[in-house]
Amino acid sequence: MIPFSFQAGILLVAAGLPAPAQEGRAEVPDSRMIVIAHRGASGYLPEHTLPAYAVAHGMGADYIEPDLVVTGDGHFICLHDIHLEATTNVAEVFPDRAREDGRWYAADFTVAEIRRLEAVERMDGRFPKGAGRFRVPTFAEMIELVQGMNRSSGRNVGIYPELKAPSWHRAEGLPMEEALLEILERHGYREPGARVFVQSFELESLKRLRALGSKLPQVLLMAEVEQYRRFLSPEGMAGIVDFADGIGPAKTMIERQREIVAWAQEAGLLVHPYTFRADRTPSRYGSPVEEIRGHLFGFGVNGVFTDHPDVARGAIDWY
Ligand code: G3P
Ligand code: CA
Repeated sequence: MIPFSFQAGILLVAAGLPAPAQEGRAEVPDSRMIVIAHRGASGYLPEHTLPAYAVAHGMGADYIEPDLVVTGDGHFICLHDIHLEATTNVAEVFPDRAREDGRWYAADFTVAEIRRLEAVERMDGRFPKGAGRFRVPTFAEMIELVQGMNRSSGRNVGIYPELKAPSWHRAEGLPMEEALLEILERHGYREPGARVFVQSFELESLKRLRALGSKLPQVLLMAEVEQYRRFLSPEGMAGIVDFADGIGPAKTMIERQREIVAWAQEAGLLVHPYTFRADRTPSRYGSPVEEIRGHLFGFGVNGVFTDHPDVARGAIDWY
C-alpha cells in the first residue's frame, strides 16, 4: 500500500496549483481536482457510446473523454483504436473490407458505413459483449449530447478529446488538427477559458495546434516508454509549457517517481494521470477509493482519468 497523508496532500495540492496563465499560453479553465470520465462511464457501458457519455454526465464527471479517429470521408468519430474490430461488429457487417494485415481501419469507411455498425464491450467482466444496441457516435453527436445535458442539468461539464495517431492520419491524407479546431470552434470551444482540454501522445500534433493559433488548453499524454523520458526532470517539464498546459502520465509513472508531480506543477503544468479502474484496482491498494485518494491527496495530482466517474466523484467529495 502506498502511504499518504490527507492533510499533507491537501497542502501539496494547494502549493502545486499552476501559476496564472502567461502571455501566449492557454488560460487553463480548471485547476480544481477534476474527474475525467475515461471513454465515458466505460466501466458500466460499452466505451465511447452515447449512453456511456450520458451516464458519465449523470455521475458527476467534470470532463468526458472522447478518443477521436477520422473516417475516410473526413468525419471525426469516437473510437479508441484506428481499427474497428475490437469494439464493433465490423467483421460481421463488412467481412471483405479488412486490409492485408487482417484489420478493419476506420479510415477505410464512410461515416454512413460506420453508422451501420454496433459498438460492443471491449473488456472482460463488464457489460455483456454483444448485449444491447449501441452505435459508434460522431464527435459532433458527442458534443451535442454533453451540451444538451449541460443545459438540462444546469451543470457545465467539459470535453477532453484525444487525437489518436495524428501522424498516421496525416500520412493517410486525413490531417486532424485543422479539422479539430474547426469543429471545436463551430461548437463554441474557441476562447482560451472554454471547458475543453485537447490531449495527444504526439507532441508534434500539440505543437501543430499551437502553430495553427489554438489557445485552447492542451495536455501531453505520456506512457512508460523511452520517448517521454526526456521530460521527466524539472528542465524537461519546463520545456513542455511551450505547447501544453498539462501532462497526462500513466499513473504508474507517478507511483514510481512521485517527483514528476512537483516538477510539472512547478513548471505551471496540471497533472492528470490515467487510468483508474475500480474493477481492476492494483492489489497494493485496499480499495479503488484509496487508490484515487492516494493520487489526489497523497501525490497531489490535479485530476484523474477513470472508467468509474462515480467512484472518483465520491473519493473527492466524501472525504
Ligand atoms: O487519454 C488518457 C488515456 O485515455 C490514454 O490512454 O489508451 O486509454 O487512450 P488510452
Ligand atoms: Ca484516451
